[in-house]
Amino acid sequence: MPCVILVTFLISLGLLHIEAAPTYVHSRCTGNFTQNSLYQSNLNLLLSSLSSNATTHFFYNTTVAAATSDTVYGLFLCRGDIDDAGVCQACVAAAAEKVLKKCPRQKEAIIWYEECMLRYANRSFFGVMDKDLNDYVLENANLVNDSDRFNETVAETVKEAATAAAAAGGSGEKKFATKEANFSEFHTVYSLVECTPDLSSMDCRRCLDTAIAELPNCCSGKDRVTYLYPSCYLRYDKSRFYNQIVAPTPSPPQIIPKEKSKSSTLKTVAIVVPTAAIAVLFLIFGCYCFAIRRAKNKYKFMNEDIAVDIITIESLQCDLATIEAATNNFSLNNKLGQGGFGEVYKGILSNGQEIAVKRLVRSSAEKGVDEFKNEVVLLAKLQHKNLVRLLGFCLAGEEKLLVYEFVLNKSLDYFIYDPRKQGDLSWSTRHKIIVGIAKGILYLHEDSRLRIIHRDLKPGNILLDADYEPKISDFGLARLFEVDQTRADTSRVAGTLGYMSPEYALHGRFSLKSDVYSFGVIILEIISGKRNTSFYQSHHDTEDFLSYAWKLWKDGTPWKLLDQKLIASSYSEIEVARCVHIGLLCVQEDPENRPKTATIVLMLNTSSIPLPPPQRPAYYSRTEIDKSEWS
Ligand SMILES: *[C@@H]1O[C@H](CO)[C@@H](O)[C@H](O)[C@H]1NC(C)=O
Ligand SMILES: *[C@@H]1O[C@H](CO)[C@@H](O)[C@H](O)[C@H]1NC(C)=O
Ligand SMILES: *[C@@H]1O[C@H](CO)[C@@H](O)[C@H](O)[C@H]1NC(C)=O
Ligand SMILES: *[C@@H]1O[C@H](CO)[C@@H](O)[C@H](O)[C@H]1NC(C)=O
Ligand SMILES: *[C@@H]1O[C@H](CO)[C@@H](O)[C@H](O)[C@H]1NC(C)=O
Ligand SMILES: *[C@@H]1O[C@H](CO)[C@@H](O)[C@H](O)[C@H]1NC(C)=O
Ligand SMILES: *[C@@H]1O[C@H](CO)[C@@H](O)[C@H](O)[C@H]1NC(C)=O
Repeated sequence: MPCVILVTFLISLGLLHIEAAPTYVHSRCTGNFTQNSLYQSNLNLLLSSLSSNATTHFFYNTTVAAATSDTVYGLFLCRGDIDDAGVCQACVAAAAEKVLKKCPRQKEAIIWYEECMLRYANRSFFGVMDKDLNDYVLENANLVNDSDRFNETVAETVKEAATAAAAAGGSGEKKFATKEANFSEFHTVYSLVECTPDLSSMDCRRCLDTAIAELPNCCSGKDRVTYLYPSCYLRYDKSRFYNQIVAPTPSPPQIIPKEKSKSSTLKTVAIVVPTAAIAVLFLIFGCYCFAIRRAKNKYKFMNEDIAVDIITIESLQCDLATIEAATNNFSLNNKLGQGGFGEVYKGILSNGQEIAVKRLVRSSAEKGVDEFKNEVVLLAKLQHKNLVRLLGFCLAGEEKLLVYEFVLNKSLDYFIYDPRKQGDLSWSTRHKIIVGIAKGILYLHEDSRLRIIHRDLKPGNILLDADYEPKISDFGLARLFEVDQTRADTSRVAGTLGYMSPEYALHGRFSLKSDVYSFGVIILEIISGKRNTSFYQSHHDTEDFLSYAWKLWKDGTPWKLLDQKLIASSYSEIEVARCVHIGLLCVQEDPENRPKTATIVLMLNTSSIPLPPPQRPAYYSRTEIDKSEWS
């Protein structure tokens, strides 16, 4: 047992790395060559040589020459903190493949991944500082609140990192450094710089200085920036994106502890471990293998405090008998409900922990076992206050189970439509729920490693904990059933009438903006306490719910949408009106017009941001769906 805990810490500190798919960042290319030329065949040789050398090197340069005019020069570099040859190799292999797609028939190309870069050209560039083909990437960047303070901190931090990287190694050695600094009481900026090791220290410094000098022009106030040169790059972010221990600068572990006492233990470990680690590492490795074998036999749910990084198939897999015992053999008394992908049961483990078990329905379009497991690991790594946490899974014959944390209160629909319960949700609670859902969706859409489109957002999929903090459930399940993420398999419509955007309901097209649509409907329902699909029966005019809300807004009386139950209580008319307005922006017909999730969160948090007028909301009827190609 102590062995398992120690291993757990070491993994979480980045000593034992778990592989994830490499993440493409950017590419640049120039110059044409003709198809089926000698250059092309040399290039293919070069790429395969680079990717085979990535099993043993973190940086490698090579040349493939036949005739003088068709020589191809190439190199790859894996990020300085990556100490796992498997990760490096996977990245270089992915880059070698992708560069041919991104830059077909180009004489010169560079492709950057988060974990590595790969470059080739028809001229020798080894040992030469090169500043052509530079670019920057601001994907998913937000403007920081206090941009002066932030960019001052950034400028200092990256300069220190650049100095450290340039000094880090002699010719041929890693020129890499990370550095972090606090720019406010609660926020830290993490930066990473690296040069290709063939540069001299001086050239490395010059290259990074050039990049730093560009920052005010491109990226002022942005919180997530990558600046790429062929010979060096820098990156900074508000969350840590590199491994810890190998980096020369010590920094606190990427663990968000729930309890203070544990946090200080972890920090102590982080300081003590690096020195002791190397000595202990050999011992641990044997222990680790042993632990994995044991974990297969005896399943144990992960502790809340343990970092996301250590999640593996082994740590998630549990056996059917445990779950059967916990759920009383899936007894009807334990059934909590029926979701889109199967029935949900409450369970209590022998240690008293409460769980919710989803028994997945069988489907012909399901993924293979290995794919299923990998997908579950990815989903389990998605952890956010506003998402229901996936704790484990169980595969036994035909049976596929997902084990989730148990959330105390029922789903949102149980409260908002029920006249006896509506009073439990004050305006401030409702506002908190709206903001919480928005943050959960933002995490799914932008902030996690995966980009997850939920596709079935509705009040029934929003659970509330004891403090009425919302938690989104059922996210990512579509991934377990389908390969294509941009177009749904017609045999499985994940989605619920009333919450599906028109382009999804009518044509099966879904995107981040179809989730935004569903969220807009949810906002308006939370405000009004009305179910948009049963609005007709109660209102005898011909209007649908969304048009009714829009009309109130148009008449300048949006707060009239507010649930009658709240009229006598305290609420801010301005806040209600703003939420109605944001809801209406989300349900506009043209997906392009709907705001991005990041914008929605910003609009909800900052009342001074002006809102554009919403277009009349989309309307489609059930008959249209029945007639569409899609159903
Ligand atoms: C590389 O290709 C470019 C574009 O085709 C060409 O202008 C240049 O002369 C080539 N360089 C060498 C060294 O062959
Ligand atoms: C490269 O090829 C593309 C299309 O094949 C063409 O549009 C472009 O002008 C070419 N560039 C050069 C420099 O020859
Ligand atoms: C590394 O690349 C060289 C060519 O530069 C090639 O001959 C060699 O086989 C590669 N090494 C491995 C381990 O594949
Ligand atoms: C790799 O780069 C160095 C210069 O940094 C150069 O001397 C060496 O010849 C290159 N190796 C190959 C195989 O081209
Ligand atoms: C933004 O700045 C304001 C005042 O400058 C502060 O009250 C607020 O908490 C900040 N928001 C964030 C998300 O840091
Ligand atoms: C950042 O702030 C935390 C506490 O607010 C502190 O423990 C930590 O040492 C600070 N880090 C740096 C690099 O100043
Ligand atoms: C920081 O922000 C200020 C104002 O936005 C700008 O003038 C300055 O150039 C920025 N500096 C950097 C290093 O981005």
